[in-house]
Amino acid sequence: MAADLRGRNLLEPGDFTTEELAELFDLADRITENPSEYAEAAKGKILAALFFEPSTRTRLSFETAMLRLGGQVVGFSEAQSSSAAKGESIADTVRTVSGYADIVVMRHPKEGSCRVAAAASDVPVINAGDGGHHHPTQTLTDLLTIRREKGTLCGLRVGLCGDLKFGRTVHSLIRAMRLYEGTEFVLISPEELRVPAYVVRDIEASGRPFVETQDMREGLRGLDILYMTRVQRERFFNEDDYIRLKDLYILDAERMRWAPSSMIVMHPLPRVNEIAAEVDADPRAVYFKQARNGMYVRMALILSLLGLAG
Ligand code: NCD
Repeated sequence: MAADLRGRNLLEPGDFTTEELAELFDLADRITENPSEYAEAAKGKILAALFFEPSTRTRLSFETAMLRLGGQVVGFSEAQSSSAAKGESIADTVRTVSGYADIVVMRHPKEGSCRVAAAASDVPVINAGDGGHHHPTQTLTDLLTIRREKGTLCGLRVGLCGDLKFGRTVHSLIRAMRLYEGTEFVLISPEELRVPAYVVRDIEASGRPFVETQDMREGLRGLDILYMTRVQRERFFNEDDYIRLKDLYILDAERMRWAPSSMIVMHPLPRVNEIAAEVDADPRAVYFKQARNGMYVRMALILSLLGLAG
C-alpha cells in the first residue's frame, strides 16, 4: 500500500506521520530495486523547481528524480534569473507557476517563505529549504538512510555536531527523530551555535532524553549515528565569528577512533572542512550513499503527492 498523500504539501517534517513516512520509504525501496518499472510513472507531469538560493544536491536530485519518472522539469536556479529580481512577491511567482506546473519545489532564504508559497499555490508545494528553519526532504533522505543502514528508526542514540543553530537540516532531523520510540539526542556544538530554543522545546515536548555538550570526545560515546554539519557561513552576521567557529569540530581518522565501531557518519553535504577526506574510506562513512538515497526518496515523494503512487 502506498501512502495517500495526493495533493498534500511538505513544508515541515511533522507534516507526515510515521506511518506515512514508512509507506514512503517502502515505495523508495521498491523504486530503487526496480527503477525501470517507474520510468514512465509521471509521464506528462511537470515539476517546477524554484531555487532562490544555491543548491547542488537538492535541486539536481529533484530534477533527476522527475526525469527518471518520465516527467519534465522547468525552473530557475538563482533569484537573479526570476522576476523576483524585478520585485515580484513569492506569492505572485508561485500563483503564476502553479498554473503551469503540477508540483512546485521551492528553496528560499527567508524562514516561513514556503507557507506563503503553499497558500498561493493550486498544486502541491515542497519546501526544499527555507532559510535557517527547515529542510524536510533532506530529512526524508536522512531517515531513509538510517532505516537502510541501521534497519530501524527506533532506539537510536543520535549525535548532531557543528552548527546546530543555523543548520536547517538539524532542526528538521530532530523534529522527525523525536517521533520514534527510544531516540536519544546528543547535541555537540559551541555555546554560540547551540540549537535554537524552539528546537529544544520540540525535544522537551516529546519527552526524549537529550544532552548538550561542547566536548566531541564525550559526545561520540555510545552513538549509533553522528550527523556532522557545515558551519553555515551565509547565515552569519559577522565574518569574524565564522572564522572563530569554523574549525572547532573536525572529524578525522584519529577522532573516528573515539567512536563506536557500529556508528555511522552522516552529513547532508556540502562539506567544507568538518570531515577530513581520509574519513571517506572508513566503512562507517555513509554520506555519499545518503546523497544517492535522496534521489529515490524524492521520486517516491513526487509520485505520492501527485497521487500516482499506485
Ligand atoms: C543542506 C542545506 O541546504 O541546508 N544542504 C543540502 O540540501 N544537502 C546543508 C548545508 O547547506 O549545509
